[in-house]
Amino acid sequence: MKAIILAGGFGTRLRPLSCTRPKMLLPVANQPLVDWCLKTLSNGGVDTVILAVNYMAEALVRYLGTTKYDLGLLYSREQRPMGTGGPLKKAKDLLTMNEPFIVMNGDVITDFDIKRLVDFHKEKKGLATLAVVEVADPSRFGSVERDYEGHILRFVEKPEPGKAPSNLINAGIYVLEPEVLNYIPNSGKVSIEREVFPILAKEGKLYGYEIHGQWMDVGVSGDYLRANALLLARNDGVRSEKAKVDASAMLLSPSDLAEGVEVGAESVIGPNVSVAENVLIGKGCRIENSVIFSGATIGDYTNIKNAIIGENAILHKWVKIESGSLIGDYAEIEDGVTLTEGVTVCPSKTVGESILNQRQVM
Ligand code: GTP
Repeated sequence: MKAIILAGGFGTRLRPLSCTRPKMLLPVANQPLVDWCLKTLSNGGVDTVILAVNYMAEALVRYLGTTKYDLGLLYSREQRPMGTGGPLKKAKDLLTMNEPFIVMNGDVITDFDIKRLVDFHKEKKGLATLAVVEVADPSRFGSVERDYEGHILRFVEKPEPGKAPSNLINAGIYVLEPEVLNYIPNSGKVSIEREVFPILAKEGKLYGYEIHGQWMDVGVSGDYLRANALLLARNDGVRSEKAKVDASAMLLSPSDLAEGVEVGAESVIGPNVSVAENVLIGKGCRIENSVIFSGATIGDYTNIKNAIIGENAILHKWVKIESGSLIGDYAEIEDGVTLTEGVTVCPSKTVGESILNQRQVM
């Protein structure tokens, strides 16, 4: 069976990390996002994956090549973004026209078995089946209303609190019959969620299959950290064989320290921390529930909690970064600065003074 990963898009919400890499190469538990997607598809009985790419496509092609996890990999390149529907039509010639195919959003991480979704789809004989997942608060997403047979009746985009028909949302994984491509115009940007699925729902040809287990949309920083923590927990324990850790430092499980990482005296790292290659961490630091990209430097006595630190960023001494703050690639945070209210620092910016409200530093 074939699958398409929607691997384009700019990663709007994690933009300060997407200037040097496509979103699919963002590390989660020290492995690029695309690897987690490919593993899910490989375990789900897929043999060929078509990656629909645009932004920084060549970096992805160079990283993946033509085969991984027993999957054949093909690429469908867009000159300009075609949304979530256009790329499917564009990839038509790479698909097999007498069997259904899977579509997966590239920013979804899940551990559910895709074979079950495919079996449900074949049993119901609709034109399309969406995986749907229950969330505590659907108001950030679109809520899905289903009947007792699993037909999707309608979608309510970003419902006001208390007004959603259910807590089920579109999980970003679909099984589609090739006929669905006839519903997508030949050119231009098309949103399959807004322009195609509502029509299929009206025609009674769209089903929803509820999935259970882990499901995350890593596009937002809180979910990105949650995904990182859950995937670290799958590995169980602390991985630091290739790091140089001072004997008086403490590593708390689960954590993953990549090759070339150095940790100074009396620093405490973890739980839920992934540190990419060649990151230098000074002495007396405290890092918890965070992702540190490769090449970053963390000065002595710096505290990082619930934060993302971009590639080659420099945090000097006595810095405090917390609460979903995001430090862009190559940014620099000077001695004693506190950023604790979800502050986003754009790439290459220098911050010399504390910021105590939620803000973007451009
Ligand atoms: P960005 O912030 O632009 O990455 O997209 P998004 O996550 O806000 O958009 P959305 O949730 O609609 O996208 C669902 C999936 O489709 C994500 O994995 C995106 O990377 C991907 N995607 C979005 N737009 C495009 C596009 O124009 N072309 C391709 N190939 N993929 C896309």
